[in-house]
Amino acid sequence: MKNKVYIFDTTLRDGEQVPGCQLNTVEKIEIAKALEELGVDIIEAGFPISSPGDFNSVIEISKAVKEPVICALTRAVKGDIDAAAESLKYAKRKRIHTGIGASDIHIKYKFKSNREDILKRAVEAVKYSKKFVEDVEFYAEDAGRADLEYLAKMVESVITAGATVVNIPDTTGYNLPSTFGEKIKFLMNNVKNIDKAIISIHCHNDLGLATANSISGIQNGARQVEVTVNGIGERAGNTSLEEVVMILKTHKLGLDTNINTKKIFSTSRLVSNLMRMPIQPNKAIVGRNAFAHSSGIHQDGVLKERENYEIIDPKDVGIQASSIILTARSGRAALYHHLKRLGYKLSEKELAKVYKKFLELADKKKDINDSDLHILIGEKLDTKGIQLELLEVVCGTPIKPMATVKLKVHDKEYLVAANGNGPVDAAFKAVDKIVKKKLDLEEFLVQAITEGSDDIGKVHLQVKYKNGMYYGFGADTDIVVASVKAYIDVLNKVI
Ligand code: KIV
Ligand code: ZN
Repeated sequence: MKNKVYIFDTTLRDGEQVPGCQLNTVEKIEIAKALEELGVDIIEAGFPISSPGDFNSVIEISKAVKEPVICALTRAVKGDIDAAAESLKYAKRKRIHTGIGASDIHIKYKFKSNREDILKRAVEAVKYSKKFVEDVEFYAEDAGRADLEYLAKMVESVITAGATVVNIPDTTGYNLPSTFGEKIKFLMNNVKNIDKAIISIHCHNDLGLATANSISGIQNGARQVEVTVNGIGERAGNTSLEEVVMILKTHKLGLDTNINTKKIFSTSRLVSNLMRMPIQPNKAIVGRNAFAHSSGIHQDGVLKERENYEIIDPKDVGIQASSIILTARSGRAALYHHLKRLGYKLSEKELAKVYKKFLELADKKKDINDSDLHILIGEKLDTKGIQLELLEVVCGTPIKPMATVKLKVHDKEYLVAANGNGPVDAAFKAVDKIVKKKLDLEEFLVQAITEGSDDIGKVHLQVKYKNGMYYGFGADTDIVVASVKAYIDVLNKVI
């Protein structure tokens, strides 16, 4: 299918190379299953020769996942290829991804070799891989900085040797969209047997151009794109899956992917949580603020017609609705929207009066929540919401973490204790025992304001409750207290 772009996901290989983001086999299987549901065509499951853990993960992912092709990475080395073939033995559909450096920099400094020798090794690696599997992908590492004539010769030789896919990586993220696109075009036009293989692109984000370069590669003939969820990966990361997929969908370039876009958001959160890698709030498509509107003009525009300020319907990526955040910059339309949601119907005159009070409050308080709105309306609330009166945690090793929490709810005090797998978990469980609301934690983001260990920690939470998405924020020098404050902030919005 000429108009299909194959999505090759390398979250579990290149993505997992991020320092501090290593996953165990169970976590990798969970992500692999989510990728299968998302609809990726190929899962790069690991680099089997690199460690027994990676080898084992490829075996277990091969058993757990049936639909996508399972791919294992190797260098152009027989031992690597043997290990990859062995690790793929349970895969229903399998691919070996072998390759070698193609730029003169790699040839000279990494391999201390010459172009002829490297070409020979490339061809041998493909031929050797073919003994084990039919589907062999070859990567010309650092192709982004390679001599174009030499790269074309390498591509032609590996296709002759049996490569079914040829990967042209911009390993160092050096290219511009125009130059990368030109390279792909040159290969498409100058490699005689190019129609016998699929050209793949694999771009890194060192200059923030990974997505742009990938799209340019696709527009010039590549039909496989190598991506990671949330764009995680070595250094500045890889091309982000969600960006490429939504660009192709939004721009209707006549190219399709197999991705069920409604699963993008949940997959993104799963990867972020399991890899303990927070997503920057303004990250395209999946960041917390990607569909949040805060300025008055934009809020008014979105409330009149979503398309005024949104090019993607948040529901298309699995986010229930765009959010209208109440801040000092919000206009009357946003305030009216939230008051209506809470059941208040105000005349123009009443709204003008409340809006004046709202602006005064918003100048003092960053985020205006529902209880603030009730108070603004002048309603006598029978509740002051939930307030944290006391928090005490016992944690460490080898003891089981325990939290004691005292809350004031509707002016009544409750004191409970609970265990958990950590101090935050124990404290949340204690709060749950009192409040008895079933919240699904979708995002838990901890940030230090500066780098010192005595600094204030900020916690952002995103929870799902009865089809609604709620956000909570807490700050404290004690990160457990900040977390509980954020949790209570959410609960106050929910009730
Ligand atoms: O960036 C790169 O060149 C790679 C290859 C191993 C495909 O990750
Ligand atoms: Zn890479």
